[in-house]
Amino acid sequence: MSIVKGILLAGGSGTRLHPMTLAASKQLLPVYDKPMVYYPLSTLMLAGIRDILLISTPQDLPQFRRLLGSGERLGIRFTYAEQPRPDGIAQAFHIGAEWLNGEPVALALGDNLVHADHLSTLLRRAAARDDGATIFAYQVRDPERYGVISFTEDGRATDIVEKPPAPRSNWAVTGLYFYDGRVGEYARNLKPSARGELEITDLNRIYLEAGRLHVERLSRGCAWLDAGTPDSLIQAATFVQTIQTRAGMLVGCPEEVAFRMGFIHAVQLRAEARRLGKTELGRVLAELADSAPGLTLASDRSVAQA
Ligand code: TTP
Repeated sequence: MSIVKGILLAGGSGTRLHPMTLAASKQLLPVYDKPMVYYPLSTLMLAGIRDILLISTPQDLPQFRRLLGSGERLGIRFTYAEQPRPDGIAQAFHIGAEWLNGEPVALALGDNLVHADHLSTLLRRAAARDDGATIFAYQVRDPERYGVISFTEDGRATDIVEKPPAPRSNWAVTGLYFYDGRVGEYARNLKPSARGELEITDLNRIYLEAGRLHVERLSRGCAWLDAGTPDSLIQAATFVQTIQTRAGMLVGCPEEVAFRMGFIHAVQLRAEARRLGKTELGRVLAELADSAPGLTLASDRSVAQA
């Protein structure tokens, strides 16, 4: 059975972005023309996921509700939950235990952006795997900031270490994870680390040691950015601007993904485009809605009848 549920984790303290995050959620800060959370949301949707639990801090959760609502407009469903304190990424599975109900799930960090050719194929393959976990690794210049994964010469993953002072490879674990139905049970058994957090790296290590961790190495043609520091925030914004304005391709646009994935019809996309007013994004979405006239007419009719 393919993974149909996803957690979007958008809490944390965002201390590396102070003072910007003293009174605002990091994941609602703009990355070029959209709120940051749109990017990982689009990634989950590209994996075919339509049932999403958004977790954030008690202060910030109302803003996420205001932005995303029930999800109906995107043909998906949002549930909201609070994380009272930033006690670690893996705490998401405790908070979401009841909602999850023992099912497999994908987890996306609210400040991560992935862009790649054929991303949807890669993601759907991970979502379709019904045993073990799938994580994605990406080569970076500053691996000590992340969970770092090492490989044998023939490409087998050997260990994962969280923020190692002397990294054994430059492969960072990205903020997108797919887990089978055992994740809840594994997460329940985690103990807080020395820094007092329930570490996602410890969870991944359980899968690794059980021989049930699949690691997809993202190639050089892919881009993975996290927007957690002032520099990476501006790099992410510049990246999105470059792709969108030079290549004419949208990055991290949930309305576009919802349409392309068949979650919404052209008439709904057109309504979303109108909501965006005179923005360039609104113009591009309206054009997209008009670009498949046959489809538009048929689906507009069926929506009108619904
Ligand atoms: P981090 O960037 O590791 O932490 P942070 O967002 O609190 O920022 P800083 O280090 O600058 O203080 O978190 C990665 C992502 O996971 C980010 O989107 C926030 C989210 N997160 C939570 O939602 N809850 C948590 O308990 C933790 C640790 C992170």
